Amino acid sequence: MSAADHPFRPLEFEERTLEEMRQRAQSFYAELDRRRSVRFFRDDPVPRDLIETAIRTASTAPSGAHQQPWTFVAVSDPATKLKIREAAEEEERISYEEGRMSEEWLQALAPLGTDWHKPYLETVPWIVVLFEQAYGHFADGSRKKHYYSKESVGIAAGFFIAALHQMGLCTLTHTPSPMKFLSEILGRPENERPSILFPIGYPARDAVVPDIRRKDLEDVSVWDPGKPEG
Ligand SMILES: Cc1cc2nc3c(=O)[nH]c(=O)nc-3n(C[C@H](O)[C@H](O)[C@H](O)COP(=O)(O)O)c2cc1C
Repeated sequence: MSAADHPFRPLEFEERTLEEMRQRAQSFYAELDRRRSVRFFRDDPVPRDLIETAIRTASTAPSGAHQQPWTFVAVSDPATKLKIREAAEEEERISYEEGRMSEEWLQALAPLGTDWHKPYLETVPWIVVLFEQAYGHFADGSRKKHYYSKESVGIAAGFFIAALHQMGLCTLTHTPSPMKFLSEILGRPENERPSILFPIGYPARDAVVPDIRRKDLEDVSVWDPGKPEG
């Protein structure tokens, strides 16, 4: 098999005017700049098709060797949500209160006001847990190497978060660590590693968020390093 044995098709690409590009760029930025991590939810139902569309959107992400090494496990069953809450709170309690987190880590988290209580894990209509497929399987059952699975899953997570925000839902990027309990509760196979837990729903009417600022462009970018002056 060589590359010539695999089909190609013309790229679908819409050329836009600079004016339109700037307008779209600005409105996309403004939309994403309004996204916040939410920790206070209400229990209003969210139809399954919205979650399906968010997962489809996430699955458009680029991935190493196009292996799409991710599994999104969606949970709406209250009994399973309760199990997740109890296990997450136990791990988080040990982390926050029994010294599993360093003093430096606890100080970094202080502005967010988080602690080991995670009531939203029961309140939300949906929990979606994103698993990284650290490796896959060939048809004969043998192990198939996955390339850049962590990076790929991170990008898919970003698409997922953006999709939820764009459709008018809220979520939290939650990593109750260690996350092994999620593999057990959700019955995931050995090749999958829990990556991020997303509680998803509408925000509580009185939801608050930390009053934090994002870095300016100058603080997150460097342009043409090493280019001669003038
Ligand atoms: C990889 C990652 C892990 C995170 N884990 C947690 C978490 O376990 N609990 C939590 O409350 N927030 C968690 N967050 C959310 C961050 O605290 C939040 O994104 C940050 O404070 C910025 O706020 P914003 O998302 O509203 O812009 C996590 C975010 C990322 C990207």
